[in-house]
Amino acid sequence: MRRRATDFRRPVRRKVPDAFWWALCCAVILLFVYILSKGNKIESRPALSKKTYKHDKIMEGLNITEEMLNSNSVARQLNDQISLAKAFVVIAKESNNLQFAWELSAQIHNSQMLLSNAATRRVPLTTRETERAIRDMALLLYQAQQLHYDSATMIMRFKAKIQALEEQMNSVTEKSSKYGQIAAEEVPKSLYCLGVRLTREWFRNFNLQKKLKDDRQMEMKLKDNNLYHFCVFSDNILATSVVVNSTAVNSKNPNMVVFHLVTDEINYAAMKAWFAVNDFHGVTVEVQKFEDFTWLNASYVPVLKQLQDSEIQSYYFSGNSDDGRTPIKFRNPKYLSMLNHLRFYIPEVFPALKKVVFLDDDVVVQKDLSGLFSIDLKGNVNGAVETCMETFHRYHKYLNYSHPLIRAQFDPDACGWAFGMNVFDLVEWRKKNVTGIYHHWQEKNVDRTLWKLGTLPPGLLTFYGLTQPLDPSWHVLGFGYTNVDPQLIERGAVLHFNGNSKPWLKIGIEKYKPLWEKYVEYSHPLLQQCNFH
Ligand SMILES: *[C@@H]1O[C@H](CO)[C@@H](O)[C@H](O)[C@H]1NC(C)=O
Ligand SMILES: *[C@@H]1O[C@H](CO)[C@@H](O)[C@H](O)[C@H]1NC(C)=O
Ligand SMILES: *[C@@H]1O[C@H](CO)[C@@H](O)[C@H](O)[C@H]1NC(C)=O
Ligand SMILES: *[C@@H]1O[C@H](CO)[C@@H](O)[C@H](O)[C@H]1NC(C)=O
Ligand SMILES: *[C@@H]1O[C@H](CO)[C@@H](O)[C@H](O)[C@H]1NC(C)=O
Repeated sequence: MRRRATDFRRPVRRKVPDAFWWALCCAVILLFVYILSKGNKIESRPALSKKTYKHDKIMEGLNITEEMLNSNSVARQLNDQISLAKAFVVIAKESNNLQFAWELSAQIHNSQMLLSNAATRRVPLTTRETERAIRDMALLLYQAQQLHYDSATMIMRFKAKIQALEEQMNSVTEKSSKYGQIAAEEVPKSLYCLGVRLTREWFRNFNLQKKLKDDRQMEMKLKDNNLYHFCVFSDNILATSVVVNSTAVNSKNPNMVVFHLVTDEINYAAMKAWFAVNDFHGVTVEVQKFEDFTWLNASYVPVLKQLQDSEIQSYYFSGNSDDGRTPIKFRNPKYLSMLNHLRFYIPEVFPALKKVVFLDDDVVVQKDLSGLFSIDLKGNVNGAVETCMETFHRYHKYLNYSHPLIRAQFDPDACGWAFGMNVFDLVEWRKKNVTGIYHHWQEKNVDRTLWKLGTLPPGLLTFYGLTQPLDPSWHVLGFGYTNVDPQLIERGAVLHFNGNSKPWLKIGIEKYKPLWEKYVEYSHPLLQQCNFH
């Protein structure tokens, strides 16, 4: 789903000189900072042995390479913002919005001063002294988006340059700051087009509807516990298609594979149409919409009950309730989506099933997955790949250990794990009342002091002591934000594009897109009509 060349060919030609100069400036600044840091070190090395431990720490803070690799570094965040702001200056000038270009430039200058001061005084920047600059800049970046600048296109161009620079410095870091999220929230036009056309097709073509209606054999398969059942909860047709297709293509027995898709009202007809017109090696596909689940109501589900609370609504939807301290990411209505919370209700969604493999819609499957269904979960409910190889993916990273309830019940060093490819034993789930455990914690978190938002923290609480670690090759993470070990890619059964750089977005990481695009039929008439690729 690459961009269409005609989309921006004309403006690009005029932008090249400007963009080029900015990239050059950027490179020079980075080089300068780097040389400065080197110079400092050489200068002070002879004195180093005499200095105290405290000084040693300060020296450490001066290692710019390290600083830029550190996910908590405010200097890095400033730097990321500057790069993006520069891109917007170019667009602002192009659009003749000189006032805004001037404001951006002034703020860029301001942030650069902070960085260069820090480099000369030999002490790393603190959150307190940069808070204001970061917030002011974030506000401008947000305004730029409101001005309908095509951020994704520009960001992609700049990202390529930044990536090249970063590779020179041997650094691969998550673009965790706000701009990545801004670009990630844009729904590509092609996907929207596909949904509309499929919906039209569905209502025009009665044969399609009939084809699904009276298929008794399929009805049987949906409940047959001797088969391999997978579930995906998504509103993205193409992503879901890749999950189903890649599972089917790599399956030894595709006729034993059953996919249970749940989507929302808006995408329901389109999703049904897509899986009716395409065949995926004979796998069985069921499509439901969550609006049909009567048990999913405010009297049963705490998340829905809490949503009726106006204070919580404003927390999600308004900008200023906490001085912008919550990342924009978590303000995304996506995090409210019931499709995200459905993973806590799998036994309710599939009352007849005993075991299900849960897949996120941003994964691609590379191997036969039937082996997952014979893994002994040792009485546990959730089979998942652990993520604490790096020390920071432990419980204390995700939960508020100042809270007595958390401190009393959860080991802060317990290993985190990831959603995305999970084996769920629904018999044990029902027996151990795991949905009840989830409700308990969700209700305790009404004031959002246990965790902020998202589904991983409540998942860690809910499945605490009920999770069986799986071999890491079953689920390889990081394709949406970082470099992944090529050996792991080779061996991985399920590759997960977690992170902002989804393979269907312009900002997807180019070198990983082919892993996913392999399973898209770009010659499909509908995809052609909607300008995919
Ligand atoms: C700076 O940090 C990087 C990455 O941790 C390390 O490889 C490098 O040796 C450090 N440089 C100095 C001069 O300490
Ligand atoms: C809400 O869900 C509960 C529990 O599943 C169910 O008993 C009740 O009938 C539902 N209420 C409505 C109005 O559908
Ligand atoms: C499951 O847990 C909930 C909340 O903790 C409780 O109200 C409910 O009675 C439990 N159900 C069973 C069957 O134990
Ligand atoms: C963590 O929990 C404590 C104790 O309840 C609370 O005072 C504090 O505000 C919480 N922190 C966050 C970030 O919510
Ligand atoms: C499924 O993937 C294969 C390649 O692995 C591709 O040839 C085929 O067109 C895809 N099918 C659909 C319906 O996307």
